[in-house]
Amino acid sequence: MSATSPDERKVVHVYDDIEEEDNHLPNWWLAILIGSIVFSFAYWFVYHTTGLRPTPLAAYRADVAALVEARIRANPTSPEAILALTRSPEALAEGEVVWRTTCAACHGQQGEGVIGPNLTDRYWIHGHGPEDILKAITEGFPTKGMPGWGPIIGPERSVKAAAYVVAHVVGKDLPGRAPQGEPVD
Ligand code: HEC
Repeated sequence: MSATSPDERKVVHVYDDIEEEDNHLPNWWLAILIGSIVFSFAYWFVYHTTGLRPTPLAAYRADVAALVEARIRANPTSPEAILALTRSPEALAEGEVVWRTTCAACHGQQGEGVIGPNLTDRYWIHGHGPEDILKAITEGFPTKGMPGWGPIIGPERSVKAAAYVVAHVVGKDLPGRAPQGEPVD
């Protein structure tokens, strides 16, 4: 980066005493420019066309999915596991069968409430989190008229039924049986 002496200067344009020179771009600058272009093509080739390596976003998503799956496997009745099942059409279909055959008689076809409370409104006696729903299904409220279904339908179908209720009943806010319990946000 030696300073250019005045006689080597190539003035190509003068305006208002301002001189525009046409100097050779410094090599270090060109090296960065060309290096960046070469790198970007290599990066594009490796990550975006051939799939030789996953993009950082894809790698991140795969890591998160693996982590969530491991946590669900470790605790299949956790709220996280129930919420994961709300994204599985197969699990929801099985849960819907349980709902129609086991729950709808007391809670209404859509959860609007008959003998049992309206499960679509904002009012809850025992809580409306995924874990509360699963507990209600598994243990029931035998002294209040709801049998516990866990021993009858088994844990797997109980979790799927909970996922169905979370995905397709809770929050629908349908008119039906009058509110019972405390309002939630
Ligand atoms: C024989 C009638 C009956 C059946 C069948 C039944 N329930 Fe219930 N359920 C009730 C009654 C009654 C209550 C109210 C309990 C109370 O007052 O504490 C209730 C309460 C609940 C609650 C808590 C509501 C709240 O406000 O906190 C949930 C959730 C629930 N049931 C889900 C289900 C699901 C899911 C099924 C199907 C697996 C089911 N119930 C089957 C009668 C029934």
